[in-house]
Amino acid sequence: MDNGASTEDESAVSKTNKTDIFVVSSNDKHLQEVCQALISFYVVHSFNDVGQLSEALAQYHPTAIIIDDKIDPIGGLRLIQGLRQTQALSLIPIVFTARKGALDQVEAAKTLPLVRTLMKPYRFSSLITAISDQVNAHIEAQWELMEPVQKAALENTLQSFNSVADLIAEGKPLPYNEIQDSCDPLVEAVQGGCYKELLKGVRGHDNYSYVHSLRVATFLTLFGDHLGIKDDDAKILASGGVLHDVGKMMIPHQVLNKAGKLNDNELIVMRSHVTETIDFLEYTEELPRGVKVIAAQHHEKLDGTGYPHGLKGKELNELARMATIIDIFSALTDRRCYKDPMSPVQAMEIMENMADGHLDRHFLTSFKELLLDAASDGDFH
Ligand SMILES: [Fe+2]
Ligand SMILES: [Fe+2]
Repeated sequence: MDNGASTEDESAVSKTNKTDIFVVSSNDKHLQEVCQALISFYVVHSFNDVGQLSEALAQYHPTAIIIDDKIDPIGGLRLIQGLRQTQALSLIPIVFTARKGALDQVEAAKTLPLVRTLMKPYRFSSLITAISDQVNAHIEAQWELMEPVQKAALENTLQSFNSVADLIAEGKPLPYNEIQDSCDPLVEAVQGGCYKELLKGVRGHDNYSYVHSLRVATFLTLFGDHLGIKDDDAKILASGGVLHDVGKMMIPHQVLNKAGKLNDNELIVMRSHVTETIDFLEYTEELPRGVKVIAAQHHEKLDGTGYPHGLKGKELNELARMATIIDIFSALTDRRCYKDPMSPVQAMEIMENMADGHLDRHFLTSFKELLLDAASDGDFH
């Protein structure tokens, strides 16, 4: 504001910590399960009574609050009503989780603004989607205005990505054919020349792992198209991109999103995402070998300094070499909560310096050609 004063709402926004989620329940088991499910998506703070929650809210505001119906002594609904009546807290999205026996509370909660309800037992993907729908409402609303194939490319891959959280939690195998089908619109959009619309569509979305995976899937499919890779092989590139880092769902947000350098222990945890991904994909029937190569080898380097197996030279086939280049390029040009995205030109400079020993120079040159063609009409963020 011109006079330097701020309204209550503005000061509330300035106190919002976008990476944090508060969870409130008097049921400790429920608290624990929710915290575990959201561990890679947010920094999760749990509270088992209203007093603790009030103290935390006085300090800063989370991106959303998950409120259980079981909160001693007042119950979840009364807590939600209280928050909605407090002006400074009235705009924080709430997800209300309730037992079937608390149906009257659910019906009343549904009438309040910015409240989503979930009946127990619910799937973790539903919880993630409920939070994401609220937090990313303005982003996903823009998808409605996109061409149908582009809209389907983003919606289908997001749904597939979120469904993996349930499968991991339930120890179930991945229905690969469904995942591959969900990538069809992405392949069609990229081959139809609309990949920039997809990249733009996820700009600002708060689920970083999804955004990174979508960007890798898009660039990998684009690169494949440039190299003449079509049909089923193009689908392997797209689905390999979507799935290549799903093991990151097991990595805590604090490590996944740390702004500074990771210490030795954190590095071990971070690198474990590759084996977590492979362990998960292991039980998938009919998983194409190419998808497994993308997931297993996208951190390997030609000189053997990569991980997890230190493969080198001829042990890395063309797909692995392509995947490494695309993963590094995407990571450098991704927008993160702690850094602005690097420009494609800067990213290519860094990667050209890495080429001797780490990256396949032939593929890197080919990718650079593709970028030079593409850069003539807009950026990649
Ligand atoms: Fe990775
Ligand atoms: Fe990655």
